[in-house]
Amino acid sequence: MILDKDNIDEAVKIIKEGGVVIFPTETVYGIGASIYIEKGVKKIFEVKNRPSDNPLIVHISNLKMLSQLVEKISERHKKIIDKFWPGPISLIFKKKKELSTYITNGLDTVAIRMPKNKVALELIEKTGPLVAPSANISGKVSATKFEHLEELIPKVDAIIKSDPTEIGIESTVLDLSTEDSIILRKGFITKKEISELIGEVSENHKEDIIRSPGIKYKHYSPNTKVVLLKGNEEEVIEFYNSSENSVFIVPPSFNKMKKEENVIEFYSFGDKLVGANRIFSLFYEIDKLNYGIIYVVEIKKEGVMEAVMDRVIRASGNNIIDLRKK
Ligand code: TXA
Ligand code: MG
Repeated sequence: MILDKDNIDEAVKIIKEGGVVIFPTETVYGIGASIYIEKGVKKIFEVKNRPSDNPLIVHISNLKMLSQLVEKISERHKKIIDKFWPGPISLIFKKKKELSTYITNGLDTVAIRMPKNKVALELIEKTGPLVAPSANISGKVSATKFEHLEELIPKVDAIIKSDPTEIGIESTVLDLSTEDSIILRKGFITKKEISELIGEVSENHKEDIIRSPGIKYKHYSPNTKVVLLKGNEEEVIEFYNSSENSVFIVPPSFNKMKKEENVIEFYSFGDKLVGANRIFSLFYEIDKLNYGIIYVVEIKKEGVMEAVMDRVIRASGNNIIDLRKK
């Protein structure tokens, strides 16, 4: 059932009966179910074909909900919340005992975020806290536009049709549940912005799957194979000339290449929003064409581009070709 964004009461009803509803957030579309109804939470795992050991993010609309879910809100939590909520950062807390472990995969922590999207906030205000993973089949590309949801629509109870999501890349996941501050997933809010507020922040090691089970899986992959290229324009042109049946995503500085038909300019530098929200859309659009390979040229990992490159590397399954002549 496709619902209009101005009429969310039907969605509220479905969720309260244990159904699952796709709704927009400012990052990507999410599939929501009530945290209190196990049937709905289980259905999310089925719809997404999600590995059962990957815990979910609880979405809230006000801080009263937060204190009902978590054991302790530290000073670091408070600083991040003051500055960035509602917004694209999920925080890990020690959870209250009563919070069901079917949400957290048996962990004693829980990920929580307050999305900055009118529809999402209105919905959660009426349903109570919702678990909401990204609205995509596990391992595939996150959805930033209604058109990206084609495959999921028949599997869910309803979808709230909305405008394209503003940010277009998932929230940063920041673990503050211990004395260390650790970024578990890169996202729109950068390490620099975080450390300016709360001091030293480290990044999750790839091996550290206990802290964030989600990172061990291949992610964000379009149906077309993705390969990351490292090199300057001359080096990439040489490679391009010998390639077939492929499409190239290149930085805006690649002036010669940009003119070719199967070459797409990635994003504009400097603009955080444009930079982040183009990658998943491009993947969906290219999947409709009949290319064998998507080559993405690596870009300087500044600001949000670090998170964008993180998604590309995961989409490629670490398939990287280094063209640089040393
Ligand atoms: O922007 C977003 O965060 C989107 C929108 C819909 O809000 N949601 C999203 O959810 O990306 P999902 O399920 O695709 O990603 C959740 C990530 C996973 O990598 C998971 O392992 C991690 O958060 N996570 C959840 N609970 C955790 C916990 N208690 N400890 C560590 N990592 C956790
Ligand atoms: Mg996801």
